[in-house]
Amino acid sequence: MNDIEHIVNEVSEKIKNSDIAALEKIRTEYLGKNGVLTHILKSLHKYSIKEKKKIGSEANKAKTFIENEIEKRKENLKEALVNEKMQKEKLDYSQSFYFPFAKGSFHPVIETIETISSVFKSLGFFVAEGYEIENDWYNFEALNMPKSHPARDTQDTFYLEGMRNLLRTHTSPSQIHIMEKQKPPVRVIVPGRVYRNEASDSSHSSTFHQIEGLTVDENVTFTDLKAVLTEFVGRFFGSALKVRFRPSHFQFTEPSAEVDIQCFFCGGKGCRLCKNSGFIEILGCGMVHPNVLKAVNYDSEKYTGYAFGIGIERITMLKYEIDDIRLLYENDLRFLKQF
Ligand code: DAH
Repeated sequence: MNDIEHIVNEVSEKIKNSDIAALEKIRTEYLGKNGVLTHILKSLHKYSIKEKKKIGSEANKAKTFIENEIEKRKENLKEALVNEKMQKEKLDYSQSFYFPFAKGSFHPVIETIETISSVFKSLGFFVAEGYEIENDWYNFEALNMPKSHPARDTQDTFYLEGMRNLLRTHTSPSQIHIMEKQKPPVRVIVPGRVYRNEASDSSHSSTFHQIEGLTVDENVTFTDLKAVLTEFVGRFFGSALKVRFRPSHFQFTEPSAEVDIQCFFCGGKGCRLCKNSGFIEILGCGMVHPNVLKAVNYDSEKYTGYAFGIGIERITMLKYEIDDIRLLYENDLRFLKQF
């Protein structure tokens, strides 16, 4: 009996420090055909019946115990192995790695839209989205451009099947949608894509982008328009440049103006970019025409407002000195990678 107890203690100790191969050796050494415990069981006939029972039962218990310990140790070893492997294979996200694809960047047109939008957001404007498919009412009529008015001639239009709908020729129809949906005060810009039925050349494209701006409230004056647009020019192009408001005509504003900035290329001396005028035209604007306010059932006695429209491609081309608008739409990576 003392032997069995001694054996169990001895094996337990050995198992604790064994690897898988050593465990198999222990199994043979103690439980195998010629194993220590097998030997004890085989020699039971030497003892009295009472002793046989006792020793036999203890020896069998010891056998089961050792088998279980070996299995347990095996399981632990396997688990440790898996853990070790997982530890080794763990991804280190902090490590930089080779990425086989080139990282993209914003298209210059999108970048211009984002930059202009952020300037107007900082001046208290919301950014809204309009519709690229409009009808005659929104694109022309509500903007004080009645049917057969010559002002329509400047915006040759793509009509969709059935002539009911058309691709908007400018972002100005979003003025109407916004005013239909909300009461003053309105202070919003709407960037988006517009379409004209024109042949493309280095400065014309049938698809291009604009940003529309609109403010309507009580007591909005031309001074507000001048202040906001001058501030925009300063923040976008740099405050050192002179800004010029030149009288112009748009059907949906009265009075109307075009905004020029001092040529940032030659500083106003006159060059190819400013066509020797020293100034570059960047946008159209004006006080919202009362007929436009009436079209959306705004009280034109109570409310006034100003609107402006900026051509995105034009500004992008000026900023990056791009001399052909078509380069912006060709998706030529050799061109786009420069931005
Ligand atoms: N919609 C005009 C165009 O495409 C641009 C424009 C001019 C928008 C003056 C305006 C504005 O809101 O006040 O030619």
